[in-house]
Amino acid sequence: MAYINIAEPCLGEEEWNYVKEPISTGWLTQGPKVKEFENKFAAMHNVNYAYATTSCTTALHLALTALGVTKGDYVIVPSFTWIATVNVVEYCGATPIFCDNDISTYNIDVEKLELILEELYKNGKTVKAVIPVHLFGLVADMYRILSLSKKYGFAVVEDAACAAGAMYDGKYAGSFGDIGCFSFHPRKVITTGEGGMCTTNDDVLAERLACLRSHGATVSEEQRHRSNSPYLMPDFNVLGFNYRMSDLQGAVGSVQIDKLGRFINERRKWAEYYNHRLSGLDWLITPLEPIPCRHSYQAYVCRIDTTKVDMRRDDIMQKMQEAGIGTRAGTHAVHELGYYKKKYNISKHDYPVAAELYANTISLPLHNNMSQADYDYVIEILSGIN
Ligand SMILES: Cc1ncc(COP(=O)(O)O)c(C=O)c1O
Repeated sequence: MAYINIAEPCLGEEEWNYVKEPISTGWLTQGPKVKEFENKFAAMHNVNYAYATTSCTTALHLALTALGVTKGDYVIVPSFTWIATVNVVEYCGATPIFCDNDISTYNIDVEKLELILEELYKNGKTVKAVIPVHLFGLVADMYRILSLSKKYGFAVVEDAACAAGAMYDGKYAGSFGDIGCFSFHPRKVITTGEGGMCTTNDDVLAERLACLRSHGATVSEEQRHRSNSPYLMPDFNVLGFNYRMSDLQGAVGSVQIDKLGRFINERRKWAEYYNHRLSGLDWLITPLEPIPCRHSYQAYVCRIDTTKVDMRRDDIMQKMQEAGIGTRAGTHAVHELGYYKKKYNISKHDYPVAAELYANTISLPLHNNMSQADYDYVIEILSGIN
């Protein structure tokens, strides 16, 4: 049996054929293909605006900048997440405040979030934004987060890096907060190589995002190109960035977004298969899908109950590797990573659930190029562990 990768992009002839168009027309920078991808993405996620970026990291940075997050501001983030969720707060010169995660959903623990908010506001501090992360494709508890946002007046930036096409109460990720941010890295359900997207329903934020994405220019490249006035020059009233997606990526994205629904349905089918076939292993806790969520299974991440198995997580991963199966740890407890640990003098034990998830989660292979035989083989090897 060939080695089973933890994740693989699922690309085909359609992407190959579509990407030829920008190559033949010579329009390689952000242009009609990016626009097409944005329009399809916005329509599918039921939002008024979608702006493609170079990555989710840059989308998150744009989002915080558009919201005016700056030095002296506090932004609350879950600890168990990819480091980029927290780094973008640092890019703005603001201070991240970690919140512990929920042991069963892996998302931000809303009860602990409320306690942190109460404590901060009691001490006269205000929070500029909260970044709930829809980890591995499971949307965070958005209704409770939005009600806290109303009570305390902070902005909500959804880190939906893993959650294109994921749903909560019949609505799409990225349509709840002030701004949603997505990733199209090849480990995500759909990919453009590198790439990201900001979504919003707010007219003012939309204008800021578009302007900041392109150096802060008052006139877009496309407007300049299509104009009959060669002297049409933009002004630059704000400090912006070049976070534009290329049309080569836009062409790939435009084909991939058409396949997103099918990819998620397939992933959900195989996640259910894993749930069912792995249910006999008392030491392996399979991922939860609480009501009212519709998981997109960007990753299938289990937790190991170390009281019920003699092997450590890393030894299990090594055994899987030797059997030709790729696995990964869920993600990081960012408060344990060198930069944050040192800068904020944080102890590992300050966020015990994030620390536990960092130590004992394992992501199993689940992607759109896997066969029934692949899933059965992963289950067979896991079943031999005790
Ligand atoms: C939760 C989360 N946020 C942000 C990112 C950053 O995404 P990108 O690699 O597109 O910058 C990732 C990437 O894996 C992620 O998982």
